[in-house]
Amino acid sequence: MKKKIAVLPGDGIGPEIIAQAIKVLDTVARRYNHEFEYTYVDIGGCSIDKYNRPITEEGMQICKESDSVLLGAVGGPKWDDCPPEIRPEKALLAVRKELGLFANLRPTKLFLQLASSSPLKSEIVGGGIDLLIVRELTGGVYFGAKKTENVDGQLVATDLMPYSESEIERIGRVAFETAMKRNKKLTSVDKANVLETSRLWRKTMHRLSLEYPEVEYGDALVDSTAMQLIKNPSQFDVIVTENMFGDILSDEASMLTGSIGMMPSASLSLGTLGMYEPIHGSAPDIAGLDIANPLGTILSAAMMLRYSFDMAAEADAVEEAVNRVLDLGYRTGDIMQDNCKKVSCSQMGALVSQAL
Ligand code: IPM
Ligand code: MG
Repeated sequence: MKKKIAVLPGDGIGPEIIAQAIKVLDTVARRYNHEFEYTYVDIGGCSIDKYNRPITEEGMQICKESDSVLLGAVGGPKWDDCPPEIRPEKALLAVRKELGLFANLRPTKLFLQLASSSPLKSEIVGGGIDLLIVRELTGGVYFGAKKTENVDGQLVATDLMPYSESEIERIGRVAFETAMKRNKKLTSVDKANVLETSRLWRKTMHRLSLEYPEVEYGDALVDSTAMQLIKNPSQFDVIVTENMFGDILSDEASMLTGSIGMMPSASLSLGTLGMYEPIHGSAPDIAGLDIANPLGTILSAAMMLRYSFDMAAEADAVEEAVNRVLDLGYRTGDIMQDNCKKVSCSQMGALVSQAL
């Protein structure tokens, strides 16, 4: 098969981790006789430096015309004082919105070899963690109207958090369908004791749940879920939640796996076009040192093979290769353990390619 991939390395450690994922994709292409054609696009701070905006129209067009998008990370202190309209993050949100990537899948899987890297006790994570956060990605407070105005001599800022029934239903369906393919258990997370959007969310999810009688469905409040994720994470299978709650809970959940550097994500549209990125940020403090963990990005590339290209065997092979490299005791600094071999970002990429 021939596939066009828009590659957006971005800022900080973005280019380093993306280079490792490309190594692995090239190996997949060779081994399985595919052709992957990469078009590189600047996004975030590096684009601001060159073009004074976080993504160009041409860059956006390349993303839209590709079979999928692979992203590293955007942002850094250098661009923190940019006006909100041209901040690096703005480009990420624009790509999500313009490509219609409303469904963000964030699998939280603990590789058992890393159980001791998790800050949680082994009684809690030792049995294995395998949950999936389905985050709504193109609605809510991220995209509602924003303003800062002067009221009675002081500044007042507002961010609106709108959600329509159809937006909730659309993400709800993805979550129920995903739960059907996993362990048929779905927890919908909201703040229905306070927020109007959450009350509509809950009502819509309840209506949908009637269509999926086989799925064991439950509601939970976001504050209590934050606590339960630490107390008893294995009670969860699929979690569905709105944009900002999903942002926060997925960072929290990533720590169950030992390191945020391990966590991949897929952002899906109604078609096969998707964007794939690790959930961590650009880590400017370690950029250029070749010590970042590329596994979250490599596992994101595996999700690309699975979800956008329908290459399940290839995706399985990449995940197995990661597993084997961990079995052999190779670790980047963030997941380093006693008696393991510490490797750089590029060595880790090469090891996974070899294991393939
Ligand atoms: C994420 C990130 C982004 C988000 C930022 C960089 C805008 O934290 O993908 O989780 O908040 O969605
Ligand atoms: Mg986040």
